[in-house]
Amino acid sequence: MRSPPAHRATTAHVGALFPFVAEPPLPCPAPYIGRDLLGGAFCYDPFRLYACGALTNPNAVVLGQIGRGKSALVKSLLWRMSLFGAQAWVVDPKGEYGPLAAAWGVKPLRLSPGGRLRLNPLDGPPPALVDGGRPELTRRRVTLLGSLAESSLGRPLRPAERAALDVALSAAEARQPGRAPLLPQVVEALLAPAPGPAAELGTTTDGLAADGRDVALELRRLVSGDLRGMFDGPTSSQLRLDASLLVIDLSAVYTSPALGLLMTCATAWVQTALERSGDHPRLLVVDEAWAILSDVGVARWLRSAWKLSRALGVANLAVLHRLSDLRAAGPSGSEQALLAEGLLADSETRIVYAQSPAESEACRPLLGLSDAEAQLLSRLRRGVALWKVGPRSFLVEHRLSEAEAAIVDTDARMTGA
Ligand SMILES: Nc1ncnc2c1ncn2[C@@H]1O[C@H](COP(=O)(O)OP(=O)(O)OP(=O)(O)O)[C@@H](O)[C@H]1O
Ligand SMILES: [Mg+2]
Repeated sequence: MRSPPAHRATTAHVGALFPFVAEPPLPCPAPYIGRDLLGGAFCYDPFRLYACGALTNPNAVVLGQIGRGKSALVKSLLWRMSLFGAQAWVVDPKGEYGPLAAAWGVKPLRLSPGGRLRLNPLDGPPPALVDGGRPELTRRRVTLLGSLAESSLGRPLRPAERAALDVALSAAEARQPGRAPLLPQVVEALLAPAPGPAAELGTTTDGLAADGRDVALELRRLVSGDLRGMFDGPTSSQLRLDASLLVIDLSAVYTSPALGLLMTCATAWVQTALERSGDHPRLLVVDEAWAILSDVGVARWLRSAWKLSRALGVANLAVLHRLSDLRAAGPSGSEQALLAEGLLADSETRIVYAQSPAESEACRPLLGLSDAEAQLLSRLRRGVALWKVGPRSFLVEHRLSEAEAAIVDTDARMTGA
């Protein structure tokens, strides 16, 4: 029997044979990302999608195994969005955003222990610019310091430690009114508290110093230990906060066990600098965010910072390998697991590159994946990701131009190129 003659048709006509497979494109004009493998071009811009009501928050999480193209996507997204006027701030723990910065015409800010550049994580906008004024500013600082201390101590702070920290921060703030306190001043005030606040708390100065001693010793690492010279002074005055791209290169401390702490200090500084530097919409990228998220103390801080983003006109973008980076440290229902869920709930765009079958299964409920989507994840090739944008799903092959390929290449050492 002869087979029927071949029939040729356009994809628009063939779509009629099975009309419900492919999603219509996202509703607003935006930078091109690549090919929607179920048909058409895929374009994405969190600010425009937010503005036209397709998203209720502009935050995104990029997940995927090593070397699948997560950072390449972020770099080319920033590059393409810059053509639409977007600005970006990047916390770069591997020091791999240098070529992007060079193409943009800016120099990364390289932080290293004992280096010349300092960022003060306790900086803040003038209290008049903060909703809630000075008390709110103090609350944010104490949350940050508490998270740093909890993360170093590996346990939650006790009430007496928290009170000692509160008192020490107030003392440091009072030392130079109108200027941001510094970490060394907080440590000093913890080690040698004043009699007045001690009496208010119904204790002696020795008692208060004993309460705050462990916290002081942990924070002291950032001030006079192996990590000094990065976050222990006033922010260097030569920084330009109005640059359209600002990259904080932390590669000098990438192998440090304290990477999570240092990234938190850098991100905290970025958050407050964003508040002081106008209301232009900006992307805040935290690459290798697992280093922050795998620690419950600092993850808690990041979640609260995430919540501020809409008010600041910031779209947060966190890059991590897998959700179990976050969940591994705590059983289901633990604070760690709740933080993971919260962060995802606050990120309406989830870009998922290849995952192991076990991980795909584990992240199904958190990401709201269908059976077919979960099975697909373990088979995705480099550069292809499942995009969950609000309730909608797209399978997207990220396409790079020749110029971008040079900017995003992290394989030079592997390929000898
Ligand atoms: N869409 C793409 N098309 C072609 N090559 C790509 C694409 N995306 C990434 N690559 C290449 O793959 C390599 C790894 O990409 P990238 O550094 O983005 O991986 P990653 O997922 O961020 O890895 P890691 O988890 O180690 O940070 C890069 O050299 C990049 O040039
Ligand atoms: Mg990467």
